[in-house]
Amino acid sequence: MIYNVIENDMEILNEIDKILEEAGSLLNSAKSRNELDDRFRAVSGKKGRLSAILHNIGSYSAEEKKIIGSKSNEVKNKIEAVYKNKKNEIEAIERQNFLDKYKIDLTIPGDYMERPHKHPITAVLEEAVDFFSSMGFEIAEGPEIETTYYNFDALNIPANHPARDVWDTFYLLNGLVPRTHTSSVQVRTLEKKSPPFRIIAPGRCYRYEAVDATHLFMFNQMEGLFVDKNVRLTDLKGILEETVKHLLGAKKTRFRPAFYPFVEPGLDLDIECVFCGGRGCGVCKNTGWIEVIPCGMVHPNVFKYAGIDPLKFRGFAFGMGFDRIVMLKYNINDLRLLYQGELDILNQF
Ligand code: DAH
Repeated sequence: MIYNVIENDMEILNEIDKILEEAGSLLNSAKSRNELDDRFRAVSGKKGRLSAILHNIGSYSAEEKKIIGSKSNEVKNKIEAVYKNKKNEIEAIERQNFLDKYKIDLTIPGDYMERPHKHPITAVLEEAVDFFSSMGFEIAEGPEIETTYYNFDALNIPANHPARDVWDTFYLLNGLVPRTHTSSVQVRTLEKKSPPFRIIAPGRCYRYEAVDATHLFMFNQMEGLFVDKNVRLTDLKGILEETVKHLLGAKKTRFRPAFYPFVEPGLDLDIECVFCGGRGCGVCKNTGWIEVIPCGMVHPNVFKYAGIDPLKFRGFAFGMGFDRIVMLKYNINDLRLLYQGELDILNQF
């Protein structure tokens, strides 16, 4: 019986063999994954010849169906095996091509990269900010273009008072001023923040100055303000002495009385000259001392301007010329060098 079927249906079995043969060479000649997948779908998918044969299997006898069916299955599996083999082969080639294309040669020396570093002003500023943060100070800000109220009046420097002359002020046509000092941030902060608080306010200031080695029309200051119920001069002394020790390595310090309208008493903190060790030199003008931080106890009028009762709160304030601190720290003798963007100079720090 079986013989019969084979004989009768030799043709269809041959055809199935032919399908395998053709599919094999079609798949094996594919050049890419896409091409291979397309071809595989064409031969073994629903529209392929093998499917067509199985579709028409109804016209055969039960025995014939069995033989055709198992032969078809066998061929189908063989086609699938060819496909898988070819797929592995193509993938291996593609992977190798990729590796060849993006080959990394670990023996090539890397490009030389200059190590970047911060501008000395930024570096010292960050150091100072870190230091004050460690003592509980926060950063406060105010505008660089300021009203005369915050720059002067609220700091106990009324209009027409001779003290205003101390700050060589640029006046803008609209009546505002580029702030002459960061002290303008004091009252702004007192109005906004309720005490107790500790703030520092670093920033740029502007004055009508002839430019020379120690003066510019724009410079950096760092204001400080410490307000609490029972702040005393000894707090000011302790904190500012620590500050100059930390930032400048100062060994000896002294406080001298000084006048600033917004503090009472007002003081200047001097450090022993870092250049001559106190013996006297050109930098300290033979005094052995260098003035670094003007400071004092907040004047009651400043509290009143901000609406704070000076009998309830007290505070101390300071305002250091920040560029000067940088110059002292790095032994720079000309302020202009810090602002010229001269890499030969800046790369030294
Ligand atoms: N604002 C002053 C100036 O620019 C410096 C100063 C002095 C600031 C005493 C203060 C202070 O906070 O208490 O010359």
